[in-house]
Amino acid sequence: MDPKNPNREHRSTPQYGLYQRENFWISNEGKTPPFNTDPNKLEELAKQKLTENGWYYASSNAGQSYTHTVNRQAFYRHRIIPRMLVDTNKRDTATTIFGHRVPAPIGFAPIGINKIYHPLGELPVAKVAGELGLPYCLSTAGSNSIEDVGKANGDGVRFFQLYMPHDDELTVSLLQRAHDSGFKACILTLDTWQLAWRHDDIATSNYAFYHGTGADLGLTDPVFQMRLKKLGIDPIGRPNEAGAAWIDNVWHGRAHTWEKVKWVIGIWKQISGGMPFCLKGIQCVEDAKTAVEIGCDGIVVSNHAGRQVDGAIASLDALEKIVDAVGDKTYIMFDSGIRSASDVFKALALGAKFVFVGRLWVWGLSIMGEHGVRHVMRGLLAELDILMNVAGYLDISQIDRRALESFEKNYQMLPEKSKL
Ligand code: GLV
Repeated sequence: MDPKNPNREHRSTPQYGLYQRENFWISNEGKTPPFNTDPNKLEELAKQKLTENGWYYASSNAGQSYTHTVNRQAFYRHRIIPRMLVDTNKRDTATTIFGHRVPAPIGFAPIGINKIYHPLGELPVAKVAGELGLPYCLSTAGSNSIEDVGKANGDGVRFFQLYMPHDDELTVSLLQRAHDSGFKACILTLDTWQLAWRHDDIATSNYAFYHGTGADLGLTDPVFQMRLKKLGIDPIGRPNEAGAAWIDNVWHGRAHTWEKVKWVIGIWKQISGGMPFCLKGIQCVEDAKTAVEIGCDGIVVSNHAGRQVDGAIASLDALEKIVDAVGDKTYIMFDSGIRSASDVFKALALGAKFVFVGRLWVWGLSIMGEHGVRHVMRGLLAELDILMNVAGYLDISQIDRRALESFEKNYQMLPEKSKL
């Protein structure tokens, strides 16, 4: 690619595709590209770098991984129709999310306990997100304090993902901290009152919080500190018990209902002065309609990347129906199974306004920390920029269902989950 392309000056978004050139050129300077961004190779490399526990937690899915498998297969039944001789010279990957103009429709999905992937946990991830201008979601199961993650993210656009405790005072405290630390939306996850039955994690007793790692977000909370005191648990002397008390409050196994969601919407609106509130984990049209009725500002169509309900429908298949039902009434986001720019493109074409990626950056973090997250995400942005160039799409608004040829659902059993 010619870096002197004059059209570059007139683009409103960075010339992401130049990252390809940078990597092609780098060997002239005696350097090599950081690592291969092919999703299967990334996964393999992350497996080599991680501890057994880190690897199992990152790669585990519910049950037999059927939902994970079908999430990936669903992308394959939609194919992009390339257009030729379109003037894409001034193409634009930018979009808006809740009033924030961002350079691409891609965000960092909320993933907890990053300290099992890298000693600095969420901090390098939030930093890179801020640097790239992409929205960052902090999980309630995060392994750094809300305040530190907010600082690491700087002027970035950040959202707080809530796992709602049963302790209302604790919920209020978490939301207040998130608002005070500059988080601009609350995303309540609905599909994880407790973790699913995940064979590898169970077989290896792999629950970091019970073993003294990952509870920092809770341990730094003033309300939770009062709770610990009452229980007589000193978090320094008894980290396993303190971590367990925290996570048993987050993934408590007790179901919430729509009534409780109405309550928490009110609390967040009050604390934040009306900032957006969204639900994550919606797969059913009826639930999407209810979310709209009770006043949610957006929904994330997600099945937790296949980590919660085994044998469920593909999140991408759910997306189509939900867009048809409420696409004009709420802001629809998507996650679960994105591995490349073409996956991003397909989700947008099916009606998502924005997508979140998770495992890709987890692998980057596991392989090379901050540098790894940056490489993976810059690679994905470059891939999207180049895809739009070669497939003939000028901006995000042009990507709609006409951009796809879609085939009937015909999902076969596939033997290897990671080779999709
Ligand atoms: C938590 O969100 C998990 O999927 O482990």
